[in-house]
Amino acid sequence: MRPDPAASPSISELAQRRLSRRTVLAGGLVTAAASFFGAATPPEAAAAAEAGAATGGAGRRRRLLGFPATPPSVADTVALPPGYRHQVLFPWGHPIVPSGPAFAEDASNSAAEQAGQAGDQHDGMWFFPLKGGRSGLLCVNHECTTEQLLHTDGRANWSPEKTAKSLAAHGVSVIEIEQGRDGRWHLEESEFARRVTMTTPAEITGPAAGHPLLRTSADPDGVRVLGTLNNCASGPTLWDTYLTCEETINKYFFFGEEPPPAGSVEDRYGIGSENPYPWYTTDARFDMRAEPNEYNRFGWVVEIDPFDPSSTPKKRTALGRMEHENAVVVRGRRGEAVVYMGDDTQFDYFYKFVGAEPIKKARKRGRSPLDEGTLYVARFEEDGSGRWLPLVHGVPGLTEADGFADQAEVLIRTRLAADAVGATPMDRPEWCTVQPGTGAVFFTCTNNTARTESVNAANPRLNNRFGHIMKIDENGNPSAEKFGWDIFLLAGDQASGATVPPDQAFGSPDGLWFDAQGRLWIQTDGTQPTVDGAPQNNQMLAADPDTGDIRRFLVGPPRCEITGITSTPDGRSLFVNIQHPGDSGTPDNPRASSNWPDFSATGRPRSATIVITREDGGVVGDR
Ligand code: FEO
Ligand code: CA
Ligand code: CA
Ligand code: CA
Repeated sequence: MRPDPAASPSISELAQRRLSRRTVLAGGLVTAAASFFGAATPPEAAAAAEAGAATGGAGRRRRLLGFPATPPSVADTVALPPGYRHQVLFPWGHPIVPSGPAFAEDASNSAAEQAGQAGDQHDGMWFFPLKGGRSGLLCVNHECTTEQLLHTDGRANWSPEKTAKSLAAHGVSVIEIEQGRDGRWHLEESEFARRVTMTTPAEITGPAAGHPLLRTSADPDGVRVLGTLNNCASGPTLWDTYLTCEETINKYFFFGEEPPPAGSVEDRYGIGSENPYPWYTTDARFDMRAEPNEYNRFGWVVEIDPFDPSSTPKKRTALGRMEHENAVVVRGRRGEAVVYMGDDTQFDYFYKFVGAEPIKKARKRGRSPLDEGTLYVARFEEDGSGRWLPLVHGVPGLTEADGFADQAEVLIRTRLAADAVGATPMDRPEWCTVQPGTGAVFFTCTNNTARTESVNAANPRLNNRFGHIMKIDENGNPSAEKFGWDIFLLAGDQASGATVPPDQAFGSPDGLWFDAQGRLWIQTDGTQPTVDGAPQNNQMLAADPDTGDIRRFLVGPPRCEITGITSTPDGRSLFVNIQHPGDSGTPDNPRASSNWPDFSATGRPRSATIVITREDGGVVGDR
């Protein structure tokens, strides 16, 4: 564990400070809005908040969480509030077009067939509307694979074909979907449908393209790589493309019989800390003894143009290399792209990228708004202020003498650069999202049981089993280098000091998304607290960001995580992913803890995209 940059005050001191800030937040909407918008509140925003408090504020609040809470559940089902229904739209193995290869429930599909079907472990996604929103392109990430379920005989008798099938089950699906008159969604026979897998050629762009650390025997120029990997969460750009984020890259590369030395670059990137996938046993590109640089070509944010099925995915190196969770793009003060991003590892960091030139200007000149700009990492001070520290070659800590030869090395080894400038190690930053209207940035710190020695104001709990949600306020200026911050909530049960009502207790917040109405959706992945002594599965809740009210909406099947969320523009169809229901089961019984969604006697549980609608056709979440 690296030391925290700030001295560690006592837990009671921290609790006091946090409490005083929270008391202000709870003091009513006017006070809350004043505190929320900060010193430089735009006058119209403050006036609107005051008017809301005086007249319709309470009504708006009731509308935001307009459904009865779903009780905790351990059932093998998707539980929703009364009046809601769901449809399983796109499970693992579903062909990406109706004429594609049919799913074999005994997992006997070949690698070639898998490449025409939904990959495994659905994660982040985005809906790009067509024809007014009753149809659209849905981009879905496939984060990783459960080899036990992917092959008929699991991991036994590993072969090149099994490696190929596993590679084909990673990546992204682009499908075209349409809502029928009966309200149900279906896949179309679409020219846009495609799979991007771990063998799809991709281009490396931006400051690190061509760098010696990105060169391999198959690609001596360091600009072209096969595939994208561990596609965790996502984000749309402001120019109708899709960002997919490469997360846990360490588990695919075999370093050797001995792990890398402590303190090495490979160690900092987690190489050797997990049992690698068996890919390296049949394909030398995953064996670091043969190809030491291949792993440097993963851990990036990748841009895909879903409207051009022949386009080459682009790895945008200006956004840094880490265990990327998601990427949220907003427009900065000068019209430039600003991207917020978390690095999901214990004691890793929260980042933002600020583009060098306006989006329009860059695109007009044929340049990507994501290829030139400044990458920053966040430092959270004890007093509720914060700074974005630039990761620019030449600043103190990032010089040649410090071991960074150039800007490309700063980006390829982003984590080491962030260590060097004094960023604040966080309790596993996962998704972030930006509040419509205020520009406030919320992000989840999912949990961190390795925080055993010191806390700080932004990570106030030792043995943080249940996680928390942070809020950053840049006073409406995404290009700012300073910010204010607060803790939006502490998850968990009362015993762990949670700020959430006991009947709505949850843990391990991960997915996070503001819908167009301003509801904050929270998805969980990991340890859940009990409610009145009863255990519960992973879930999805909605929160009112201004009042802090929170309500459980959905509970998933056993051992799944809930991740990925997007909706039609009218908010009437909400897409959510159920990832790894039942986890991997057991070698002799893959259905040991879940058989969702097929409940077949011979099949296996499947990750899937579901669509949630209301029986009365209303906006999901509204009253
Ligand atoms: Fe892919 Fe950090 O979740
Ligand atoms: Ca996952
Ligand atoms: Ca996640
Ligand atoms: Ca997670």
